[in-house]
Amino acid sequence: MSVLLEVKNLNTGYGDLQILRNITMEVNEGEIVALLGSNGAGKSTFMRTLVGLNRAWSGEVIFNGIKLTNASSEKIVKSGISIVPEGRRLFAGMTVTENLYMGAFANRKNIHERIEKIFQIFPRLFERKDHLAGDLSGGEQQMVAIGRALMNEPKLLLIDEFSLGLAPAVVESLVKVVQDINKSGVSILIVEQDVQMVLEMSQRAYVMEVGTITISGKSSDLINDPKIKQAYLGI
Ligand SMILES: Nc1ncnc2c1ncn2[C@@H]1O[C@H](COP(=O)(O)OP(=O)(O)OP(=O)(O)O)[C@@H](O)[C@H]1O
Ligand SMILES: [Mg+2]
Repeated sequence: MSVLLEVKNLNTGYGDLQILRNITMEVNEGEIVALLGSNGAGKSTFMRTLVGLNRAWSGEVIFNGIKLTNASSEKIVKSGISIVPEGRRLFAGMTVTENLYMGAFANRKNIHERIEKIFQIFPRLFERKDHLAGDLSGGEQQMVAIGRALMNEPKLLLIDEFSLGLAPAVVESLVKVVQDINKSGVSILIVEQDVQMVLEMSQRAYVMEVGTITISGKSSDLINDPKIKQAYLGI
């Protein structure tokens, strides 16, 4: 199994306040990897640092053998990392189609074919293509956020808060979509509060507590780990 994303001793924070401490982790090609942790643990800070939205203080982010630590967001996107950010961050006053186009800013080649592919993955978005993103349901907005990230044809898809605020039936259908995306060759790093569900979806997982990785391992092992059960599964 070859390593796609390799993070070594990453430190960062806001102002003088350190948030992440010596984060070391990896995502292999073809994997779905879960990142678990309580509110405020630093999961979003980590995801944002990977895509250049926060600066790393020290440490390394290596992707596909290329050092991307503190590279520009454009270079990172072009290298093949896309993010579905926490809260989705759509352009509410723009249509579904316009939002999808925004995801292709780094590469406009074959843009129409790519948008057709997104509409095949999410037929619902084709039906809603001329609607304003702000008028969509939460589930539809998450589809746009995922579709926008896929417009970049990533090798690694980062999803921050996958199911937050969505109805169970919507979540179920989105899980299938994410699994299909993964089967098509895209590795996935996913932050999700439903620990049971995400451990079932993923091959490996990391637990972050106050800015450090405290537990890591195979998801099938962690699902039976007493510490995980007590802290995150309410058992
Ligand atoms: N822009 C910011 N400026 C200052 N502090 C911040 C900023 N963003 C986040 N923080 C702080 O950094 C810490 C980690 O926040 P972060 O959003 O990364 O956690 P998280 O694990 O994603 O939490 P959640 O589960 O609530 O999404 C928190 O203490 C938070 O208050
Ligand atoms: Mg977060």
